Amino acid sequence: MGPRGAPLLAVALVLGLCVLVEGQKPSPCQCSRMTPKNRKNCGFSGISSDECFDRGCCFNSSVPGVPWCFQPLPKEESEQCVMEVSTRKNCGFPGISPKECASRQCCFSDSIPEVPWCFYPQSVQDCHY
Ligand SMILES: *[C@@H]1O[C@H](CO)[C@@H](O)[C@H](O)[C@H]1NC(C)=O
Repeated sequence: MGPRGAPLLAVALVLGLCVLVEGQKPSPCQCSRMTPKNRKNCGFSGISSDECFDRGCCFNSSVPGVPWCFQPLPKEESEQCVMEVSTRKNCGFPGISPKECASRQCCFSDSIPEVPWCFYPQSVQDCHY
């Protein structure tokens, strides 16, 4: 392949990665721990559960009046740490380091300001699709 092939290959790689990331089925907790009223639509009315999961979203048609295909909760390092921010139970203090948090066997996520960054994990037993 000559020098002209390289950019094309890069484009193909990036596109391929996007498809992989989007097509990943969310974990059960990423779906079932989302409060129905907080669901953000990820599909269209009449979307099938397969089409919805193919988009990397969650499907649940048992609650009327809210989107059935919705954005999952953010992925965390451990499934036990996947939960809505409002249900985090503080396990640390403002400014706690990831290391100190880990020594308390708690979850650490500092992507959202003004909320507990170190919080207790929750059993995944209640998680389901
Ligand atoms: C759908 O969501 C509701 C509310 O979160 C939950 O009670 C129910 O178990 C879910 N159903 C399925 C099949 O996941």
